[in-house]
Amino acid sequence: MEFRILPSPEPHHALLVLSCQIGEQVVYDAPDSAGPIIAHYLNHTVFQSKPGEFAYILGPDGQRILLCGAGKLEKCSQDKLRRAIGKGIKEARKHKMTHVWVGYPSWAAGVLVIDWEQLVGETAIMANYEYKSYITDKQWVVGLTEVALASVHPMANELVRKGVILGECTVDARELINAPAHELYPEALAQKAQYWGTAFGFEVQVYDEEACRQMRMEAFLSVGQASSRLPYLIVMRWKGQGLNTPIGLVGKGVTYDTGGLSIKPTQGMLHMKGDMGGAALVIATMCALARLGSAQSVVGVVAACENAIAGNAYRPGDILKSMQGLTIEVGNTDAEGRLTLADAITYAITKENVRAVVDVATLTGAVKTALGEHVAGVVCSEDSLYTKLQQASKQADENFWRLPIDDEYRDLVSSDVADLSNIGRDGLAGTITAACFVEAFTGGLPWLHIDIAGVSFTRKDHEYISKGGSGRPMRSLYHLVEGWDREQAG
Ligand code: BES
Ligand code: MN
Ligand code: ZN
Repeated sequence: MEFRILPSPEPHHALLVLSCQIGEQVVYDAPDSAGPIIAHYLNHTVFQSKPGEFAYILGPDGQRILLCGAGKLEKCSQDKLRRAIGKGIKEARKHKMTHVWVGYPSWAAGVLVIDWEQLVGETAIMANYEYKSYITDKQWVVGLTEVALASVHPMANELVRKGVILGECTVDARELINAPAHELYPEALAQKAQYWGTAFGFEVQVYDEEACRQMRMEAFLSVGQASSRLPYLIVMRWKGQGLNTPIGLVGKGVTYDTGGLSIKPTQGMLHMKGDMGGAALVIATMCALARLGSAQSVVGVVAACENAIAGNAYRPGDILKSMQGLTIEVGNTDAEGRLTLADAITYAITKENVRAVVDVATLTGAVKTALGEHVAGVVCSEDSLYTKLQQASKQADENFWRLPIDDEYRDLVSSDVADLSNIGRDGLAGTITAACFVEAFTGGLPWLHIDIAGVSFTRKDHEYISKGGSGRPMRSLYHLVEGWDREQAG
């Protein structure tokens, strides 16, 4: 998709006009050529500019206008604006339009957290994506080829580029999540990381099973041992200009989760190709940091494997020794993600000397039950880390909710026969007990744990996220890293 800065639309452009409601009035900015047509339309219809409300207006000279409502001005937010843009882009796709010009809504200046140009770049790229790789009839998969927007900002092109990169990295993460597991197995994931590392200039090192065995990663390797697809530890390094020690980003990379011997029912297995959502985000964040030349240093770690079933599968009742040294009783082979995270985190701390650990994982069904598909669950070691995440999320419009952690919960992952159990006793507080397990491997470092089992994969189309892998919350991770050492306001 091409982006152009263009003060007014050209005849081949469809016009995307954003509107809001002020009192009884529908307010919008439009070029002179379209203003009267829209006014005429509004005089003769009941368009109220509600959130998601949309009208396709055809001008007398063939001008196509996509009028997108963003709701009442006093209730408007940056996300409502994104959704209105996304709605317009999706409708443009539906009508096989390829060139769109987006008008700047002067009424929305007060709701923007990031620059308008970046917002359009991000949102247009995200809204233009659908997973169609395996649809044979490519004819209708046209999509937009050009988005033009008006801007008087002297850095307009750079700002658009930033948005485009964040949008593209989100889409890259979605592609990884949507790719079926027969195509995207651990080695394929490692190759993807290597390909992007070369393309964008971050370092990628891949450890095979034998190398992981030498590092005594028994927790990780046990999960992957029943699969014919071999496990790989993927390490990505980005060194910013600053002299800082790296932040560790650890992503769950289970390329398929059958549940193992504690097998999942068919319905529960259906979307488990997406159980590498955390890995997809970590890889995509590395791409974004490198492409945008971040000053921060970051190490991304993914212990990629497939949780399969065979005679040599690990079993409920097995006792594993983690790389860190703690022993783990396997209460359920379907609680595999935390086992892979444990060794990946130990690797990040002991071999890469990270100063903090951020782990992202499609870890528990419980987080879906608690928070649904649009809010990620967070557990962290310090208030200040959550504040950083909240500030990042305001730029990205991705949602988080913090859950508590204390010794009452920690006690639930104790075991009679080992140092830890991989399941919480009595099925209590599934998301928090998973976090307690992971915490045991963080060595007291600043730690932020993000459970994305709900937000990573959606069953419903959204204005700028099509159903399937969402790529959330990749952009928050990027902003989190970027803002990590910034003074906190307030
Ligand atoms: N990958 C799943 C969690 C998941 C569930 C992700 C639904 C996306 C959608 C994870 O490995 C898992 O199976 N967790 C178990 C843990 C339990 C056995 C303690 C769960 O949540 O049921
Ligand atoms: Mn599982
Ligand atoms: Zn899993």
